[in-house]
This record gives sequence, C-alpha cells and structure tokens, in this order.
Amino acid sequence: MSKLWATFASLLQLQLLIVTVAQAPDLPEGFPKCKRDANFDKCLVDAVNVAIQLLKPGNKEFGIPPLEPLSVKKLVIDAGNAPITLRQTLKNLKVHDMISTSKIQRYRTDLNKHLIICDSKTDRIEMIGDYEMSGRILLLPITGTGKANITLVNTKIEHRLIGEPYEKDGVKFMRLKEYRVSFDPKRVYLKFENLFNDKTLSEGMNRFLNENWEVVFNELKVGYAKSFGIIFRGLSNKLFEKVPFDSIFLS
Ligand SMILES: *[C@@H]1O[C@H](CO)[C@@H](O)[C@H](O)[C@H]1NC(C)=O
Repeated sequence: MSKLWATFASLLQLQLLIVTVAQAPDLPEGFPKCKRDANFDKCLVDAVNVAIQLLKPGNKEFGIPPLEPLSVKKLVIDAGNAPITLRQTLKNLKVHDMISTSKIQRYRTDLNKHLIICDSKTDRIEMIGDYEMSGRILLLPITGTGKANITLVNTKIEHRLIGEPYEKDGVKFMRLKEYRVSFDPKRVYLKFENLFNDKTLSEGMNRFLNENWEVVFNELKVGYAKSFGIIFRGLSNKLFEKVPFDSIFLS
C-alpha cells in the first residue's frame, strides 16, 4: 500500500512538473531561436522560415487560426485617388498558397529600437471570396457583386514591424504597434464574376482590367496592404504578447 502510494505520489509530482514546464511562456515547439549577436539577422531568416511553416495549420495554444487557407471575414478597400475612385468589399475571403509559397530572404533589425524589417517573396497569393464593388476604374463606372478571384504571382513583400516594449510582472515583452506591408507583384490576375449583372459587359470589363492590371492594382494595393498589415500584426502579437522578449530573442 505504502509502496503503491509512493509510486502514485511520484507520478503526481512528475505530472505537476510537466504541467509547470508546459505552462512556461515560450515559443511553440520546434521554433528555432536566435542569439542577438553579429549573425542575428541571418539566423532569423532561417528561424522564421521554419516557424511560419510550423504555424501553417494554426496553433490552438496561442490562439492562432489555420493560416492556409487564411480566412478573412471582411476586407474593405477604399481607393480614392483619381483616376480610380472605388469602394471594394471582399467577404468570406480565403487566401490560398500564401504561406506554402513564401520565403523570407532578408532581415534588417534594430532591436534596440524594436524595429524589424524583412523582405520576402511569395510565389502565389490566391484570394477567393465574395465581392461588392462600386465606383470608377480608369474613368469607367464599375459596379457588381459576385465571386472574386484576385491572384498575385511572384510578389515581393516588404514587412516593417514597429514594436514597443512593455512590462508584465517585471518581465519585458514587445508588442507590435504597427505592421506595414508593401506588395510588389510580377503579375496580378483579376476576375470579378457578374460585373454590371451582365455576362457580356462583365467579360469585357474583366478583359480590360487584366490588360491594365498594373494601373488597376497600383490603386488597390495600398488598401490590400493596409488590411494585410492589420492581419499580420494581430497574428504576430499572439506570439509577442505571450512570450517574453528575451525568450524570443536570446541575449
Ligand atoms: C484564380 O485565378 C488564377 C489565375 O488566373 C487561377 O490560376 C486559379 O485557378 C483561379 N482560382 C479559382 C478557384 O478559380
């Protein structure tokens, strides 16, 4: 009896130990870490490339949803600059391929200033969802509601993460107050079904939009970038607000 009790007690102890260890705030399992030394920026490229792929199915513990496809409930783009004045709402958006086909190429960091700049390349960002649009594109009136497919190919993305330090129970954390994104795609394919509620007009307009994709996307891209910046900031902060600064970036 006493022997059994001792075994049980030591098992309980082990269990408590495991629970304590599991609750220590640290990055998700398998995330490589980097020391803040001369090699830091290079180290971060490989570490974050591994981390992003690990996060692809999401992470319950950190409240991170599946990232592929990434679901976006609603995204509103106001493009107010002539020659385009346009309001575009995308709903129930699914963003495909963005994580699998992304590679970070370079980091430039200044952690003393809580600044992280990163260049990445994404082969394919396929956004599928419902759209509502009205306004003008290249002086032409455009209206419609229906299914949309906006696909960006070979996109260079610059990420600018601007953090601010704060303390929780005497421990330093960093949260991102801004996450700025800029997109530079090699090609954008646009498909808005049912423009003008008219098949022929819709086909003509879609052809026109794709022939002029560069001008059209130039007007839309600030809006897309703003929306993605907010999404990326939210996702990043799920990690930053749980894990102390010195556990993410080793001193
Ligand atoms: C979206 O458009 C791209 C580029 O034209 C195409 O390759 C892809 O198959 C389309 N996706 C859907 C679901 O139609």
